[in-house]
Order: sequence, then structure tokens, then C-alpha cells
Amino acid sequence: MAAILERTAEITDDLDLPMPQRPLGKFGWNASVLTLGGVKWDTMRPDDEAIALIHRALELGINTFDTAFIYGKGESERKLGLALEGIRRKVWVETKVIDRTYDGAKEQMETSLTRLKTDYVDLMFVHSVDDEEQYRQIMGPNSVIKAIEEFRAAGHIRHIGVSGHWVKDVQARIIQEYPFEAVLCPVGIINLAYDYSFVDSVLPIARERGMAVLAMKILGAGRAKNARSVEPYFRYTLGQDIDTAVVGVDSIAQLEENVRIAKRAQRAPTDSEIAAILSEAREITQEWDEGEFDYVKGYMNQ
Ligand SMILES: NC(=O)c1ccc[n+]([C@@H]2O[C@H](COP(=O)([O-])OP(=O)(O)OC[C@H]3O[C@@H](n4cnc5c(N)ncnc54)[C@H](OP(=O)(O)O)[C@@H]3O)[C@@H](O)[C@H]2O)c1
Repeated sequence: MAAILERTAEITDDLDLPMPQRPLGKFGWNASVLTLGGVKWDTMRPDDEAIALIHRALELGINTFDTAFIYGKGESERKLGLALEGIRRKVWVETKVIDRTYDGAKEQMETSLTRLKTDYVDLMFVHSVDDEEQYRQIMGPNSVIKAIEEFRAAGHIRHIGVSGHWVKDVQARIIQEYPFEAVLCPVGIINLAYDYSFVDSVLPIARERGMAVLAMKILGAGRAKNARSVEPYFRYTLGQDIDTAVVGVDSIAQLEENVRIAKRAQRAPTDSEIAAILSEAREITQEWDEGEFDYVKGYMNQ
């Protein structure tokens, strides 16, 4: 007891607190509540800085990393592979395959393993299933699913997941029709502000089926940088029924700020706090880029 008190007394910066972990689905992996997401630092930083950022994340207790075949035209996987040389087996690595065909998916997954300098990934997502057409391609014969199952049988993939950004009905349906083991979906307050959060529709189904739940869009793809503080945005997402929040950063300073927030004692915002943040969230997301705004404008003013 005295030792604990002494250690706590020594901690003057929240950064030095232990990283909270949560079981990732039923995989037997305790994931840091923050997962370092790709397509940010890895596309914006040269090799040495990208590697330094990953090593800082590891030092701070992040043990789970998210990338994808298409991020930065392969730069994301390549830099993650460089940074994890020699420590691959101590961390959780997930990537994503975007090709919907059997042959195309096989080729992409082989390339991913080479770039990541590993012979297995812990979790392979079918990337971005966001409309009916993609749903049909994936669930059809000779699709990406067959290729993934073969890779899993050969030991190159440990678990299978699906990610989606926009169409919650499609995601809710596909996880009931195929035994995916993990889902990556929007669980940000900004999504809630535009009524396209997956919290009510996808999360309960995923949990009922024993799946891992990974959250994204915590900061609305960076829009929350115009908020008074990013802290409530993290507290909202971490207060949902999720295992880990996937967040991208473009600097060590952003990484450290996010880790500080995640390490502090967590309390989910109350309903009235959420209501206050929602109006700010709507205000700052007027800056959606055109492509994304097309998706969300239908929800506005409802
Ligand atoms: N379908 C999919 O599978 C899919 C799609 C998208 C993303 N993802 C994954 O999810 C991760 C997160 O992506 P997201 O789109 O959901 O983005 P997000 O986490 O909502 O926002 C990340 C962005 O927020 C900004 N940011 C981070 N920390 C900050 C801080 N402390 N203060 C101010 N700004 C801060 C940075 O923007 P700036 O770079 O502008 O500074 C960063 O790039 C990605 O890295 C990726 O791994 C998956």
C-alpha cells in the first residue's frame, strides 16, 4: 500500500499513468483503450519520424495498431512494418483488404504481409463496406471472404472483421449474416450530431454475437480540432460499449495529448454535457469536405 501511494505521489504527469486496457472481443488480447490509427502520421511523416512516433506510442502503453492496404498507397503498412521489426509478436496488428474479389484480395493480402514484415496479422478487416453493391460482392461466391478464410486456415490471419463508415444498416446486416469477429465503425460524438452513429444499431448486435468493437471517427476525422477541447469527444467514445478507440495523429504532441486524456480517470459525459457538445459538434463540422458532407447533409436539420 505504502509503495502504491509512493508511486502515485511520484506521478506528476498523467502521461506516466498506466494505459487502461480492455479485452478485445474474445481474442485473449488486452488492447490499450487507444489504438494508433494509420493514414495520418504514416502519410505525413518521413520514415524516421513515423518510426519515432510509433516507438513513443509503444512507450506510452499503446499496444494495438491499425492500418490498411490502401493507406498512403502502402506507405502506412510499410512504415509500421519498419517500426515493429523485432517486436512484432508483442503487439496487435490489424490491417484491411479492399479488393472484393478472391484473386485481387489474395494479392493485396500477400503484399500487406510483405510490407508489414510479418507472416501473420492479428485481425484482417474487409475494408469499408458501405453500400448494397459492396455487400453483394462480398457475400457472393469467389469473393474476398474466401481468400481471407484460406489465409486464416494457413495461419496468416488470426481473426476476421469488417469496417464501414456510413451505412449502418448494411453493417448491421452483414455482421448477422457472416461470422465476423470484429467490427470497426463510427462511434464519435460528431457522428451522433448527424445521426449516423452506429451506437444504437450496430453495437448491440456486435456484442450479442460476441464480437470485438473498435471505434473510429472519435474526432470526426480531425474536425474536432476546432472544438474548445478534444477531451469530451474522447470521453464520449470511451464511455460507449467499445473495446478500443482507433485514433490517428500527425505528431507526437497530438499523440501525447490523446494518451493523457485516455489515462485520466474516465467518466462518460452526462446527457446535458452531451447536448452541449452536440451543438458545438454541429458547428465545427460545417467544415466537412465535400465528399463527406454529401453523406451527412441528408441528416441535417432533422
Ligand atoms: N473504414 C475504415 O476502416 C477506416 C476509415 C477511416 C479511418 N480508419 C482508422 O481510424 C483511424 C482514425 O481515423 P478517423 O477518420 O476516425 O479520424 P479521427 O480519429 O476522428 O481524427 C484523427 C485526426 O484528428 C486530429 N487529431 C488527433 N489528435 C488530435 C488532438 N489531440 N488535437 C487536435 N486534433 C487531433 C488529427 O487531424 P490532422 O491530421 O488534421 O491534424 C488526426 O489525423 C485512422 O487512423 C484509421 O486507422 C478506418
